[in-house]
Amino acid sequence: MSSKGFGMPTPATGGAGQSPAPAEEEPAEPVILADDAELDLSADEAAARVEETLAALDAELVGLGGVKRRVREVASLLQVDRAREQFGLSSSRPTLHMSFTGGPGTGKTSVAMRMAAILHALGYIRAPRVHVVTRDDLVGQFIGHTAPKTKEALARAAGGVLFIDEAYYLFRPENERDYGQEVIEILLTEMENERGDLVVIFAGYQDRMATFFSANPGLSSRVPHHLEFEDYDHPELMQIADLMVAEENFRFDEEARAAFSEYLTIRMERPNFSNARSVRNAIERCRLRQARRLVGLDRPIRKEDLVTLTAEDIRGSSLFEDDQEDGAADESTGQV
Ligand SMILES: Nc1ncnc2c1ncn2[C@@H]1O[C@H](COP(=O)(O)OP(=O)(O)OP(=O)(O)O)[C@@H](O)[C@H]1O
Ligand SMILES: [Mg+2]
Repeated sequence: MSSKGFGMPTPATGGAGQSPAPAEEEPAEPVILADDAELDLSADEAAARVEETLAALDAELVGLGGVKRRVREVASLLQVDRAREQFGLSSSRPTLHMSFTGGPGTGKTSVAMRMAAILHALGYIRAPRVHVVTRDDLVGQFIGHTAPKTKEALARAAGGVLFIDEAYYLFRPENERDYGQEVIEILLTEMENERGDLVVIFAGYQDRMATFFSANPGLSSRVPHHLEFEDYDHPELMQIADLMVAEENFRFDEEARAAFSEYLTIRMERPNFSNARSVRNAIERCRLRQARRLVGLDRPIRKEDLVTLTAEDIRGSSLFEDDQEDGAADESTGQV
């Protein structure tokens, strides 16, 4: 008949039957279903949580059609894998190391968080956690410092996702004795560990990641899932702006929306344009100008005033003055 939620490992008493290679990550061996049993994949509790996350991914992130499809694929793969397990069909644990390639501010970190939630809901990792690192967190300055640093990062990420931002900096072909190579070797060992409960996501610009992987075929062969994050186009960036503004309980009035659209057109051509991150930064600065405007107002303010961003708040940007100050200030300053 129908299944128990396989997200929740049931403290099943070992059922009869040919046990598949006992997987250590499973605290208890599930009862094996009869050959003619029926399993409703959608009725499963874990599946419901996955659906919720996928729905949030759709609703909260604009565009990214290809990425969303790949996330669904990974979820399906795991769901089917779990179902197979319930029927006692043993197979090797799917390899789920991934690469997320794309420009700055295209949603890589945001999607990694959702991916972790899905992997966790389906029992592939122990916690829906993403530990973000860059080269400096892994590579030591001196001989003998790299291995402990990398192992510490691995320990902190254990049971979750290790997200290596700008992963190509680990590989410096111009320097033969670069410690980055040592990191790659340690990662490889960890990634090859069948019983490991760590997912590694390598993130960075498309072209540099391609070079990185072709120079490290061993690594590349352990990373079967590649998700490509495209730059957003103008309408998508507008939608992202609307979403962000609404999320913070603000709104653009009509002229403000037109002004922001114009702002984007200019900003997209400027240096250091960082997709959705630039949108977020621009909105932050609008809020600053709005605050300045409201505080300077010589009348009492209403709720309406507090939620409204006006064209003035947007056009106050130095970007409209044809110098690049605002653009420079937008240089990606930090993480999400
Ligand atoms: N498709 C989207 N819809 C709505 N908001 C988005 C979208 N993509 C990114 N954002 C927002 O833009 C900001 C930057 O996104 P995120 O940090 O995920 O990008 P990233 O690709 O990791 O950037 P970087 O390469 O600079 O680390 C976040 O505030 C995120 O919420
Ligand atoms: Mg990021």
